[in-house]
Amino acid sequence: MKPVDTVIIGGGMITHDLLLPSIYHLQRTGIVGEISVCALNNSPLKELAGSKEIIQAFPGQTFTAYPALNEDPSAIFPDLYKEVLASMTPRQAVVIALPDELHYGAVVEALNNNQNVLCVKPLVHQYKQSVEIEKLAREKGLFVGIEYHKRFDRRALIARRHYELGDFGEFIMGEAKMIEPYFYRYSNFQNWFTTDKTDPFVYVGCHYVDLVWFITGLRPVEISVTGVEGKFPNGKKGYMWANGRVKYENGAILSVIDGLGYPDEGSGSNEQCLTMFCEGNGKSGMIKHDDQFRGVTLCYLDGIGPGGTKHNYVSPDFYRLVPWEGKGYKPVGYGYDSVAATINTIHAMENEVSGMEEPQALKHRQKIMAETDKKGIIATPANSYINELVIEAARKSILEDGEAYRIVYGDDPHVERGHA
Ligand SMILES: NC(=O)c1ccc[n+]([C@@H]2O[C@H](COP(=O)([O-])OP(=O)(O)OC[C@H]3O[C@@H](n4cnc5c(N)ncnc54)[C@H](O)[C@@H]3O)[C@@H](O)[C@H]2O)c1
Repeated sequence: MKPVDTVIIGGGMITHDLLLPSIYHLQRTGIVGEISVCALNNSPLKELAGSKEIIQAFPGQTFTAYPALNEDPSAIFPDLYKEVLASMTPRQAVVIALPDELHYGAVVEALNNNQNVLCVKPLVHQYKQSVEIEKLAREKGLFVGIEYHKRFDRRALIARRHYELGDFGEFIMGEAKMIEPYFYRYSNFQNWFTTDKTDPFVYVGCHYVDLVWFITGLRPVEISVTGVEGKFPNGKKGYMWANGRVKYENGAILSVIDGLGYPDEGSGSNEQCLTMFCEGNGKSGMIKHDDQFRGVTLCYLDGIGPGGTKHNYVSPDFYRLVPWEGKGYKPVGYGYDSVAATINTIHAMENEVSGMEEPQALKHRQKIMAETDKKGIIATPANSYINELVIEAARKSILEDGEAYRIVYGDDPHVERGHA
């Protein structure tokens, strides 16, 4: 089996906290070949290359940096990723970890350079863009996975199975919450998390919108989101908090609160949960996930926890580095599982078709992709399209202070102002 070379575009927080470690581990298990990381300038790449945690976990493993580590850190290279993509051997893997508004251009560029893609969520903010990506990828037989890692949380998989079997009844009323740390306001977020571009509902509320869809298969039909504005330390305005309401085709309602405001001194590291009430025949069912406190509390001697904290609720489920039978540490958790699911699928797909003539190989890849879409575990443009419709409606709604937007399905799904 031939490994797939992998280029990560974007060297920020999610690359450090999840993507690069996951790709490094896949390299040592023989799935991934050469690794490159491309960022706007080389500062984040220096941080990645020098990260004590990453070096300790993956001794001896390195990546090629674009721009190079000895380049002037103040020089910026917004189009360098295009050159990197153009220089790749066809049919490898590209992981896109850029600010939201750059996803569309980078995904299309990767596909036009004949690369398979794993994109962080949300894929794009416009439904039509996701349809275009889906069509382009299908025509070329290139895999596109979207990193909605909560789908890989065992509790979500358990809920999906029981929901599918009818063990809860039908979802009718729910609430979800994801409050990210206050210190995010001091990060690179202040450059792109601005009022005109995104908001906490789109940023993290989308995880729970996707999860309710993943568990129930119910389509959202109406969205209303209200935000609370604030200023980042650099003076730029952003929505720091958001409150969203999603109505579903069966009349169910999900209320979602999100924010960049979990106390830095809190044991958090963030706050997150999902409750779903369901109705059965003469009785009700319920799904209740505390996604913050998962039963593990650690108190360190030094402030090595998030935001410099000593006392933490530690999730063993999302992403942790743990001892294993090999060198260093290995990543475990649904974050790793999610990255691995897409990269493994790309690796398996490309190896299955190696040696086939292109027309036959294309058909085979398209078959694998259609099966993945149908299975609905890995998020793909085809099986997670409701997220783009919800995000499109949510962005319009929040900019109009909570005005309701409905989603109209049918031959030409679209979003329009008004109630469903
Ligand atoms: N839970 C999750 O699934 C999760 C968590 C965090 C972030 N994300 C998503 O990941 C994306 C990035 O988030 P982040 O927290 O890493 O952001 P970040 O601001 O920390 O990093 C952004 C990176 O993009 C790079 N970049 C910007 N323009 C570029 C260009 N033209 N060419 C190459 N690189 C460029 C920057 O150099 C930086 O390294 C966002 O879409 C976010 O929604 C997902």
